[in-house]
Amino acid sequence: MRLGVNIDHVATLRQARRTFEPDPVFAALLAQRAGADQITLHLREDRRHVQERDLRLIKELVIVPVNLEMAPVEDVKRIALDVKPDRVTLVPERREEITTEGGLDVAGMREYLEEFIKDFKSEGIEVSMFIESDPDQIKASHEIGADAIELHTGRYANLWNEHKFIELKAEIERLRRSAMEAKSLGLRVYAGHGLTCQNIKDFMVLKDLIEEVNIGHSIVANAVIFGFEIAVREMKKLMEG
Ligand code: PXP
Repeated sequence: MRLGVNIDHVATLRQARRTFEPDPVFAALLAQRAGADQITLHLREDRRHVQERDLRLIKELVIVPVNLEMAPVEDVKRIALDVKPDRVTLVPERREEITTEGGLDVAGMREYLEEFIKDFKSEGIEVSMFIESDPDQIKASHEIGADAIELHTGRYANLWNEHKFIELKAEIERLRRSAMEAKSLGLRVYAGHGLTCQNIKDFMVLKDLIEEVNIGHSIVANAVIFGFEIAVREMKKLMEG
C-alpha cells in the first residue's frame, strides 16, 4: 500500500502566526526523503492552511506525485489546471467545518461533476472522488468518468479510537465490499481520513484491495511531539552562545 503524506497541518501551524515557519514545502521534501510515495495537499477556498504558493513550489520541487484535494469550484480549478498536479481529489468543503466531514455527494451532483472534470481528463490529470462507502456514490463516480475513488475512513477511525470493535469489524467489511465493487468497475481505490499510527495496523487487512492511503494529521502531530525535545535543546544551546 502506498503512503500519501498530507502536509496541510504544517501550513495550519504556519498560518496560526501568518509567518514563514514551519514551511509545508520543506515538510513535503522531508516526507519524500523519508519514503512518502506521494504528497497530498488541500487548497481550500478559504485558504486557511495551504496557500497557492505552497502548491506551486511543491509541484515544482518534489519528484513523487502530487495529489491536490479541492472542492469542485471554478477558482481552484483554474489554479489546478495551471499547476497541473498529477491527481485532483474532489472533496466536499464547508467553511464552518473543522476538517473534511463526510464524502462528496457525487450521485447528487452528477451532471455538474461530469462537466467539471472534463478539463482535468483532457489534460491527463487523474481524477479521484472522495466518497463514503456507498454503492450509489461508487456507481455515480464510475458513470461520470472518474479514474479513482478515495474511500472516507473517518468512521473506521472513530470506531477504532472508541474501541467499538464489533462495529469496527462491520465497517472494515463495508470498506472491503466498496473497494471490490469499485475495482470491478475499473476504478482505482484509495482511502484516507483519521488514520493514525495506532489504527493503521488493523486497516492493513485491506492492503490487497486499497492501493494507497493519505494520512496527514497524525503524522504532523507526531512530528511536533517527537521533534519538541530537539527544538528546545537547540534553543537552549543558542542562548548559551
Ligand atoms: N484524504 C482526504 C480526501 C482528506 O480530505 C484528508 C483530510 O484533509 C485526508 C485524506 C487526511 O486526513 P487526516 O489528516 O485525518 O489524516
